[in-house]
Amino acid sequence: MEFRRINGMPPYVLGVIDGLKKEARRTGADVIDFGFGNPDLPSPEIAVDKLAEAAHMEKNHRYSQSKGIPKLREAFADLYLRKWNVRLDPETEVISTIGAKEGFSHLMWVLLGPGDCALVPSPSYPIHIWGPLFAGANVRDLPVGINQTDDEFFDALVERFQSSWPKARVIVLSFPHNPTTQCVDLAFFQRVVDFARENNVIVVHDNAYAELGFDGYEPPSILQADGAKECAVELYSMTKSFSMAGWRVACMAGNAEVIGALAKLKSYLDYGTFQPIQIAATVTLNEAQDHPKVVREIYQSRRDALCDGLAKIGWEFPKPKGTMFVWAPLPEPYRQMGSLEFSKMLVTDGHVAAAPGMGFGPGGEGYVRFALIENEQRTHQAVRNLRRALDRLSP
Ligand SMILES: Cc1ncc(COP(=O)(O)O)c(C=O)c1O
Repeated sequence: MEFRRINGMPPYVLGVIDGLKKEARRTGADVIDFGFGNPDLPSPEIAVDKLAEAAHMEKNHRYSQSKGIPKLREAFADLYLRKWNVRLDPETEVISTIGAKEGFSHLMWVLLGPGDCALVPSPSYPIHIWGPLFAGANVRDLPVGINQTDDEFFDALVERFQSSWPKARVIVLSFPHNPTTQCVDLAFFQRVVDFARENNVIVVHDNAYAELGFDGYEPPSILQADGAKECAVELYSMTKSFSMAGWRVACMAGNAEVIGALAKLKSYLDYGTFQPIQIAATVTLNEAQDHPKVVREIYQSRRDALCDGLAKIGWEFPKPKGTMFVWAPLPEPYRQMGSLEFSKMLVTDGHVAAAPGMGFGPGGEGYVRFALIENEQRTHQAVRNLRRALDRLSP
């Protein structure tokens, strides 16, 4: 059968690694799984309790509001004020989305059409590439290099913008960055915002890892930059910050016209997240404000366990400053294998699953991504497995 939109999509590479993982597990192997960024930590107790309570109320069983109940939008606005000193009007500058992924994908429908162009980091979280493509637009790569300075990335952005035709209507950014873990400072966002205002382009910043900065680094919001509300919107998600992946709760905040456009589209598409979930998310945002700090400490310890362990076996590289990932260059003796073959070998010989960098676009080749979703004890075990499997390393 012929289908539209999905025809050009390559097979999902994580699926290949997942298949090998399942095969190894069938033979009794204990595969330690760093493949998929699916948080293993439980959601806050208050979220679960409130969800149960709200689900028992019949009035919450009806359609909800597609743009989110007012109290949830207010709770997101309060978070922006508390965390970043950014003042938002919950009525016009905040919309609740069914996870950041849904908000991002549908936003692309209202910002882009056939023939338009979007600048998208490469490598990228796959929907950042596929969202604009599903909307019929073209994508121009913005290379994100590991240990690239903010200035280098900004210069590359300007160069790509100026050399693309037609001119990009949208610049997609996402820092702390999945998969490369690159982080930026507020001064970078200020330069981007100034540039976007001068050039009449919309910046969409996916701040999915807003709470996951390490060693004292606090990821900025693009909305802190002066003039940001004229040209930018940002996604903030409860998935990683509050370990609420399955709940599908996030928001988009910023430019009122853009938020209004997404609200209009969504009013035709959906009725919002199940209301008890929205109520539980509201109470969690208001009353479990410190939860993201607890989550962040756990990921930081896991990062240390993995990076220190790998360094001891001869696989050394700088530790990430943010996200819940480790983006590791293929060790020299294995570099010619490419990321897919190397990742397959890690599963079959080491019983360790990691995502091949090429799964995040051609810019990801030469790397593997470890998602920090295994506890420290299992992470130590993974390092022992890798020491045995990677016998060409010299510790
Ligand atoms: C950059 C980025 N954005 C969005 C998401 C998904 O967020 P949500 O669960 O809110 O859709 C992820 C998850 O891995 C991500 O890495």
